[in-house]
Amino acid sequence: MKPQTPPQTYRVKSFGCQMNVYDGERMAELLGERGIQPAADGEDADLVILNTCHIREKAAEKVYSDIGRLVLAGKQSEAKGGRPPMIAVAGCVAQAEGDEIMKRAPAVSIVVGPQAYHRLPEMLDKAAKGERATDTDMPAIAKFDALPARAKRGPSAFLTVQEGCDKFCTYCVVPYTRGAEISRPFLHLIAEAHKLVEAGAREITLLGQNVNAWAGEDDKGRPTGLAGLIHALARIDGLARIRYTTSHPNDMDEALIAAHGEVDKLMPYLHLPVQAGNDRVLKAMNRQHTVDSYLKLIEKFRAVRPDIALSGDFIVGFPGETEAEFADTLRIVDEVRYAACFSFKYSPRPGTPAATLDFQIAPEVMDDRLTRLQARLTDHQYAFNQASVGKTCTVLVERAGRFPGQWVGKSPWLQSVWFEGEYAIGDLVEVTLAEAGTKSLKALVSASV
Ligand code: 5AD
Ligand code: SF4
Repeated sequence: MKPQTPPQTYRVKSFGCQMNVYDGERMAELLGERGIQPAADGEDADLVILNTCHIREKAAEKVYSDIGRLVLAGKQSEAKGGRPPMIAVAGCVAQAEGDEIMKRAPAVSIVVGPQAYHRLPEMLDKAAKGERATDTDMPAIAKFDALPARAKRGPSAFLTVQEGCDKFCTYCVVPYTRGAEISRPFLHLIAEAHKLVEAGAREITLLGQNVNAWAGEDDKGRPTGLAGLIHALARIDGLARIRYTTSHPNDMDEALIAAHGEVDKLMPYLHLPVQAGNDRVLKAMNRQHTVDSYLKLIEKFRAVRPDIALSGDFIVGFPGETEAEFADTLRIVDEVRYAACFSFKYSPRPGTPAATLDFQIAPEVMDDRLTRLQARLTDHQYAFNQASVGKTCTVLVERAGRFPGQWVGKSPWLQSVWFEGEYAIGDLVEVTLAEAGTKSLKALVSASV
């Protein structure tokens, strides 16, 4: 590889989950500290970071087509006297397939895993000298210690509190790409939350692959779980809303359930994936919970917070899933009445136990099941939105709407809500929900708070 001019501008393209969005922001901050600026809209960047996702095959394949596109664009730019961008691959594909990327894509200068991106500056120096750089080490806490202070502006911010997974669901690559569960220390998180609020955040979403497995010691050295962290964050003036995602049913404790009845700032929304509605399938997935234990948990949340909006993740076509077992998934959807959901066709991931199971399901059967499941989920989402009509609530304004004078934000139940008036991003506006669609609601303004 030839020596390359050190980059002055960058672009980070994040795929996949919210954790990747957070990581993308932190990499941007790291580059900002070195004086590397974001490329202007429509301009080529000197450095492109593909922050990749490995969770499903389609997501993982995207990285190679994106590299191909960048190489082509680089050649066109070179023909006009410009230079091709330096390409870095970050995220979970980098972690899982780093060596293969280096072999298959000679244009890539840097491969950096999700636990190593604090070393990006050194890797850039190496790349500038013409050496390719790979770092897929896994010491996660070191990363957080080495990152600069938060600079994020905007009303809604992410805060990674926990990373990794020890659950080993048989279909999932996360335990291999993100490593074992680790929790960031309580005081670091409180400090980062203060910084975010000072920079304008009014809502913080706590992130973790198993966010409710977060554990630490509070400021007095007492052991505490996620509920304790939420109570402490709720004491930050200027912070109006707290959310957390994604939870695992087996890591739920009574304190966290109770917090939903005690902490006003904790929004009435819970993302609690169940994946399937049949006990045999759940066992084959190694979920370590049953349909019944999941439903009992939901009942507990509804007892302390009757209006709580529930969302989940579903996989259709897990190896061996019969039509009757799939029908059980439709049944649990009807029983829970989810307000929102994410549903996926099973995708065999290299290195996971399920990938080598017999009785993989035919693609057309998966397509059919996914269509039916999504239709059912959409029905429930619409019903949830319709049942919200007439409710008064606050909306956190996130952006201007499509037409002048229109604003779009989120209700406490994470619905997209639009309304008219003179507001600014970051305002909390009290509205009455007036008309429901499947994906959003129209509201009338009652007052500003
Ligand atoms: N195939 C399909 N969906 C998957 N998920 C995780 N692994 C796979 C896979 N191999 C889904 C799960 C998880 C979400 C983040 O992605 O539903 O909760
Ligand atoms: Fe993957 Fe299961 Fe861990 Fe979630 S709990 S990240 S689905 S292994």
